[in-house]
Amino acid sequence: AGIVETSFHVKNLTVNRLCKNQVITAVNGSLPGPRLRVKEGDTVIVHVFNKSPYNLTVHWHGVFQRLSQWADGPEFVTQCPIRPGGNYTYRFNLTGQVGTLWWHAHSQWLRATVYGAIVIRPRKGQKYPFVKPYREDTIILGEWWNANPIDVETAGLATGAAPVNSDAYTINGWPGDKINSCRPSKIYRLDVVAGKTYLLRIINAALNAQFFFKIANHNLTVVGVDATYTNPFQTDVVVIGPGQTTDVLLTANQSPGLYYMAAHPYISAAGTLFNGNTTTAILAYQNATQTPIMPVLPAFNDTPTAFTFSSNLTSLITSPFWLPVPKTVDEDMLVTVGLGLSACGGSNSNQTCGGLFGQRMSASMNNHSFVPPRSISLLEAFFRNVSGVYTTDFPDQPPMVFDYTNANNSFNRGLLMTPKLTSVKKLKFNSTVQVVFQNTALIGVENHPMHLHGFNFYVLAQGFGNYNPANDSKNFNLVNPHKRNTIGVPVGGWAVIRFRADNPGVWFTHCHLDVHLSWGFATAFLVENGGTPESTLPPPPADFPQSWFVDGRTLA
Ligand code: C2O
Repeated sequence: AGIVETSFHVKNLTVNRLCKNQVITAVNGSLPGPRLRVKEGDTVIVHVFNKSPYNLTVHWHGVFQRLSQWADGPEFVTQCPIRPGGNYTYRFNLTGQVGTLWWHAHSQWLRATVYGAIVIRPRKGQKYPFVKPYREDTIILGEWWNANPIDVETAGLATGAAPVNSDAYTINGWPGDKINSCRPSKIYRLDVVAGKTYLLRIINAALNAQFFFKIANHNLTVVGVDATYTNPFQTDVVVIGPGQTTDVLLTANQSPGLYYMAAHPYISAAGTLFNGNTTTAILAYQNATQTPIMPVLPAFNDTPTAFTFSSNLTSLITSPFWLPVPKTVDEDMLVTVGLGLSACGGSNSNQTCGGLFGQRMSASMNNHSFVPPRSISLLEAFFRNVSGVYTTDFPDQPPMVFDYTNANNSFNRGLLMTPKLTSVKKLKFNSTVQVVFQNTALIGVENHPMHLHGFNFYVLAQGFGNYNPANDSKNFNLVNPHKRNTIGVPVGGWAVIRFRADNPGVWFTHCHLDVHLSWGFATAFLVENGGTPESTLPPPPADFPQSWFVDGRTLA
């Protein structure tokens, strides 16, 4: 296996989008940032130089980080940020995964403009389990503000209200030509040769939007998700949540012309956080000049289409990386996920915040709303046995049982106010873990893309209403469930995942809608060491960003 070594220079620069100049933070001067192209089994070395004015970390979304836990990246979970002027080298290995992953900043809302693709091809001597594509391309969906996203987040958190909507969605960094406010300076264009088959690696890098994606008149064959192979299935629409990737084959088999590819949000609920725009790019056959044809996207709230897409996914179990589903479960968890409120705070009890009932918008898992530490990462505290940084009492069950998905139960005050905690769940090495994510309807109902660092999990089942163990466990797919690192928990419903905790370290799990993450929609799994060198957390690398301080003292 080879070594892929590169440098990321993270800097502010001015770009023009939506007919305006805007200062953004970007890697190597480009939006999206550089694409990492590797073969399965390669080692990746990325020297990150933070020349931006912000604290920064980079996360390699979906990479297992076995024995390279210190390179995972979430701010104050595995590392302290790289301070302005600082640098850190991320080193990790990409073994056992083929397909598409991506990287993004994991500090505040920097990932709005600090993101790029990771393309993993089969190692030498191995092939794709599908027809060899003529060409490959990456299609990265993103989100754009006519503002600095960090200011948008900060302003929202300061008032306790929801931050303002984005102004556009993007394909490979460009909003497209269907935005009323602006005629575009550029639109992404994919040139194709009639009759050829292309592998498109679709990535959703948007902060707060799940998407329907379509290409006019063309069917797509899904062959992979989150760098795992799936049994191929045909569809005319791809449903993709933030954090997820979907690899599709596209055959240029329509009359040679111009076709739009387009995406707009799958909202599933009230949707006040969505700007209503459709982003477009062009699929262009050679020499075509006619007016491009626009696809008809599903309605914003088309939950059946979203659910069907996800239900059609199964794993290709002949893949060299397939491992059977663990048949027994050591840790059985039911975790409610959804929005709530937290106390407006302050010494003046008359003070009101901008969220519902004058409180702050918040979000929680089993009614714990996560607050990251502020001076040392959880991983470093775990490794060095520093006490007082986190507690290990994240609950296995919700604090009370009720009809989770009945919106009329909305204002169950006991669950509405969520305490702010830094609680994690401890796991024994190699234990098998099942988590039922149960969506709640305390404040609005939404599909939540739940992401787990450090692992792929099996998606055993999904459904609507309240999870019923006796009935619903009968429908588990234990044969060929799809595997991924991010699953959309259906609006007003649940999803069941299972994984084996065979990777020691501290692994963040959170909703990949950044607005929800800002509100505390997260916890972490702390996986203990196994007892062999391969199952023991190594010490941090020499250039690991220093802990800021703990209890007034700097750590040795
Ligand atoms: Cu894609 Cu915790 O992140």
